[in-house]
Amino acid sequence: MSLNYTKKTLEHFLRPKNIGKIVHPDGYAQIGNMVCGDQLDFFLKVKEGKIIDVKFLSFGCASNIATASILTEKVKGMTIEQAKKYAWQEVVDDLGGLPKQKLHCSVMAVQGLKKAISDYEEKQQVLPKVKKTKKKEEKTKKKISVKKSSLKKTKKK
Ligand code: FES
Repeated sequence: MSLNYTKKTLEHFLRPKNIGKIVHPDGYAQIGNMVCGDQLDFFLKVKEGKIIDVKFLSFGCASNIATASILTEKVKGMTIEQAKKYAWQEVVDDLGGLPKQKLHCSVMAVQGLKKAISDYEEKQQVLPKVKKTKKKEEKTKKKISVKKSSLKKTKKK
């Protein structure tokens, strides 16, 4: 059985864009499909609500690579809100179509991106809490050191 891949799909499979890792990503996700065994890792770098860099690693089929490649190309420069709306059908359309046996590859790519965005958003909620806790700790440390120094002064007298 031979599958009909579009020229665009073959281009993205043979010369994928944005392949690789981002060290210290703002958002990261790994996603896999238990049925076909394919896997994707997504890495995001976000600045002021915009995706400024996105990379992926693939352990999957030609469509897995091509869908992740075109998806990263499309969402780079988008706001997080815009990227959340990028649907699997758009991935398929942007590739000029996919064989129906391979439609799930585009679904997995979109799910992986959304998972990485969720990871980014969770970190955004946790970070302010961590910063608040650190500030509180610093204030407490200052108070303690002031008390210690005033205690020393009192002892000298
Ligand atoms: S065959 Fe499962 S992701 Fe491509």
